[in-house]
Order: sequence, then C-alpha cells, then structure tokens
Amino acid sequence: MHQDIEEVLFSTETIRARVAELGARITSDYAGKTLLLLGTLKGAVPFIADLARAIELPLELDYMAISSYGNSTQSSGVVRILKDLEGPIDNKHVLIVEDIIDSGQTLHYLMEVLRQRRPLSLRVCTVLDKERERVKPIMCEYTGFTIPDRFVVGYGLDYAQHYRNLPYIGTLKPAVYQADEPEPEHQHISPAEHR
Ligand code: IMP
Ligand code: MG
Repeated sequence: MHQDIEEVLFSTETIRARVAELGARITSDYAGKTLLLLGTLKGAVPFIADLARAIELPLELDYMAISSYGNSTQSSGVVRILKDLEGPIDNKHVLIVEDIIDSGQTLHYLMEVLRQRRPLSLRVCTVLDKERERVKPIMCEYTGFTIPDRFVVGYGLDYAQHYRNLPYIGTLKPAVYQADEPEPEHQHISPAEHR
C-alpha cells in the first residue's frame, strides 16, 4: 500500500468485480443499440478503460474535458469545456462515464449541454456516488459504489493531480494535507485545472 494512504475502501479485486457487473448490465441494457461511451477527463480514464472491456457490444469511445469554477466550498456551476466531442451525437445513445458524483454541479451542466445536442438517450455511469446533499439532482443509472462524504483518491481520482494511478480507492492520511491548505474536499472547485 502507498505510504500516504490511510485506508483502502475498495481494493483492486473489489473494483474489478464491480466493473464486470456494471459491464454485464450495460451489455444487456444496450443490446442492438449504437453506444457511445463518453469519458470525462481526467478522472474517469482508468474506469472507462476497464468498463469498455467489460461491455460486449460494438461501441465508440470519446472524451470531454470540463473544468468547474468556484471560490467557496461549492462549485459555482460555471463550467468551461476544455475539450469537446469529435462529432455529433444525435444518432447515438450516450453513456457518460464519471469518476465520482459529489455536488452534482459539473455533471448537471454537462448533461444540459449534451441534451441540447439531442442524443437518442443520455445516461450516467459512475464509479463512486458520494452520500451528500446534491447542489443539483442527478439521475445516475449505473453506480459502482456509494461512499460517505469523505475525500478519496486512486483509480483515477486525484489530490492535487497525484494518486490517480493507484489501482485501488482509499483515503489519504491527514498528514498529507498541508496544515495551511484548505480542506481537501474543497480542492476540486478551485480554478486549477483539476480534472
Ligand atoms: P461536483 O461538481 O461537485 O459533482 O464535482 C465532481 C468532481 O469533483 C469529480 O469529477 C472529481 O474530479 C472531483 N471530486 C469530488 N470528490 C472527490 C474526491 O473525493 N476525490 C477526488 N476528486 C473528487
Ligand atoms: Mg478531480
């Protein structure tokens, strides 16, 4: 285990088994359809790579990079598209693949933008869903794990851009957070290009 990790919440094996289950469900739900897996950079990259290989259907992969801006404990809802999709989606069933749903603000905005492009359908698949009050309601069809409102890293999730490559999901030792830095929960809403 990495020296900065306090507790492993989901091991590599646990994640692998859950991703296989999600892949099987998606395979049956989208049978016969034209599926586009839309990964959000950067956090969803390990998940979308594993999930795509657990889905036994012809599918396309594309990515969007979005950055959320805020200056307090909540993201502002102002979201900038840093990288957009390659083509139109009006003839596709779009499944957004996310690392984690926290406030729901970023994903809510992304879904608004995508709905205007009239996909055949639009759904969400996330590794983690935080049990907390949502700023914006999100309907998520496929959830890996529900977690309490704690800051986690690994399997794509970062703290200050690090730990994305850990093959498991865990919490950081408090000593890792600088004493004079804001709470880690608040890091992701800073204007820094975090995702
Ligand atoms: P939301 O708009 O508050 O839902 O922001 C969700 C984004 O914040 C995720 O895609 C992550 O990039 C980041 N985030 C939220 N919670 C965590 C966490 O516990 N660890 C790492 N990143 C997080
Ligand atoms: Mg992030």
